[in-house]
Amino acid sequence: MKRSDIEGRPADMWRWHELLPLKRPEDIINLGEVQTPLVALSEASRPKGFCAPLVKDEGRLPTGSFKARGLVMAVSMANAFGIKRVVIPTNGNAGAAMAAYASHVGMESFCFCPEDTPEVNVREIALQGAKVWRFNGLINEAGKMIVAGKEPLGWFDVSTLKEPYRIEGKKTMGLELAAQFDWSLPDVVFYPTGGGTGLIGMWKAWQELLELGWITGKLPRLVAVQASTCAPIVRAYDQGATHAEPWVNAHTVASGIRVPAAIGDFLMLNAIRESNGFALAVEDADILAAVSHVAQRDGFLLCPEGAATYVAYRTAAERGMISPTDKVILFNCATGLKYPMPASDARIDIKSGPVDIVDIVNKY
Ligand SMILES: Cc1ncc(COP(=O)(O)O)c(C=O)c1O
Repeated sequence: MKRSDIEGRPADMWRWHELLPLKRPEDIINLGEVQTPLVALSEASRPKGFCAPLVKDEGRLPTGSFKARGLVMAVSMANAFGIKRVVIPTNGNAGAAMAAYASHVGMESFCFCPEDTPEVNVREIALQGAKVWRFNGLINEAGKMIVAGKEPLGWFDVSTLKEPYRIEGKKTMGLELAAQFDWSLPDVVFYPTGGGTGLIGMWKAWQELLELGWITGKLPRLVAVQASTCAPIVRAYDQGATHAEPWVNAHTVASGIRVPAAIGDFLMLNAIRESNGFALAVEDADILAAVSHVAQRDGFLLCPEGAATYVAYRTAAERGMISPTDKVILFNCATGLKYPMPASDARIDIKSGPVDIVDIVNKY
């Protein structure tokens, strides 16, 4: 197999099939796993003199998030092995992706969501055919329920890094970046970090491409971005630790990265350090301001986790941690349309007399 074989195929996840575990095309549950685009942010959204950061927009994938990459792989493999029931603890996006792929093949799916999972995610999961419950705890506290149901309910656990295939699916983020950058790679990748499968998967992808001799030059510096109110990986990175202590009282508007303890912490910390990257925590208020700024100046509706990478990028630029000529990637792991938006309730009464539209518009 050569690079040119890949280039000659349609630009979707399956062009990489030799590097993925699913070997029989008939086992793929295909909902349209496209290669996601890189969108350049305008001058209004970058520090003076900096080249345009590129947003890798994972919101274009089935179920509107990058979770499709891992879960298409895990559910397709589970189905190929004859598994009939799958279960996951989820902050929202993973559950929706699991439910969609499971429903497509008539597999039963079950989701446990922390109480403050956005309403839209819980409804999406239910509508996609899963049985879903909220519970009053955080994502890492669902494990006991899942273990307790294993024998009597016969479900298979597809939690982060508890099975081997999600990470293989996540590799395609790194593979795509290599192809999109003509087999060299960008300089810095800012990634919103929760369970960390994205960071770990990309790092694995680049090691495999190096082994194949398909990429040249330095690997990107990986930057783990977390919210300051749930930043176990940032804290461990700053302390020089190899494992992260669980974060107490975790909360953030960026629900996908509200992961107080991650099973793959040591793998993430290793990838960040080996890549000569770094880890940054950002404030919720800055995340929300960034969502509005980029929506209004670039026409791009980031999800809060994606906006966190934007805030970290601006901070890193201000502190001289990246250089103006660096080719920078910001991961927008889900569509912004899945998240609560500020209210907009201006209304016109056209039934009770003449409307002075000029006055109304000027006063908006
Ligand atoms: C939108 C979004 N961004 C980032 C993450 C964190 O991803 P990872 O588990 O790869 O660290 C999640 C996980 O749920 C998410 O939904």
